[in-house]
Amino acid sequence: MKVSDVEVWYGKVRAVSDISLEVNKEEIVGLVGPNGAGKTTILKAIIGVVRVAKGEIIFENERLNDFETHEIIKKGIAIAPEGRQLFPFLTVEENLLMGAINGEAWGKRLETIKFVYSLFPRLSERRNQLAVTLSGGEQQMLTIARALMAKPKLLLVDEPSLGLAPKIALEIYKLLEKLRNEGITILLSDQNARRVFEISDRAYVVENGRIVMQGKSSELKEDERIRRVYLGL
Ligand SMILES: Nc1ncnc2c1ncn2[C@@H]1O[C@H](COP(=O)(O)OP(=O)(O)OP(=O)(O)O)[C@@H](O)[C@H]1O
Ligand SMILES: [Mg+2]
Repeated sequence: MKVSDVEVWYGKVRAVSDISLEVNKEEIVGLVGPNGAGKTTILKAIIGVVRVAKGEIIFENERLNDFETHEIIKKGIAIAPEGRQLFPFLTVEENLLMGAINGEAWGKRLETIKFVYSLFPRLSERRNQLAVTLSGGEQQMLTIARALMAKPKLLLVDEPSLGLAPKIALEIYKLLEKLRNEGITILLSDQNARRVFEISDRAYVVENGRIVMQGKSSELKEDERIRRVYLGL
């Protein structure tokens, strides 16, 4: 997936500009940056929730700009959104099925749900429980699991560790690694730069709507400014 020179506006306010980034097959790529930097906006542009005013987004040799979100999902991209956005009064299993509502995924839902439960045994045990009764960590798992129900090749994950205890956040990150080992490519946004650098192959630093640094995560985490601003070292 390749994003080239993308710009997004909310009304008269330009949220991001000059955004160019690439996510290669089976990579985990990180997006880090402070509150309001534009991370979520970039993910929303890729999945077609916000319109791109300039630039283009290419996925598997196809330009995504003019497609609607449900069409983009069918092409193989899914999102585990910031703030989770579960259906609180549906069960775990009903939430999962909502993730498969698009096109071909519906026909394969029973097979996919088995796969998802094998990755998330905790969700399997709680399949008949209402989403609202899950713990924060379990809700985050359900958010990712629901996105997987669309059988994505590229998974966008927005702030998966927000509000979670460090131990639970680690568990979520372990799961993301497992997904990558299952062949899923991941673009991960998180304010917690330390965690992102641990898990990702490469990362982009977003500040004030622009990418200000990029590189291998192993190198970024040694950078003097990154250590000071993002890692508190
Ligand atoms: N629907 C909207 N209408 C107007 N402005 C918006 C809207 N959504 C986001 N913005 C603005 O766009 C900018 C980028 O926001 P965005 O949510 O992409 O940042 P972020 O990096 O994801 O932040 P956070 O780490 O807090 O999630 C911010 O200035 C924000 O106020
Ligand atoms: Mg955000």
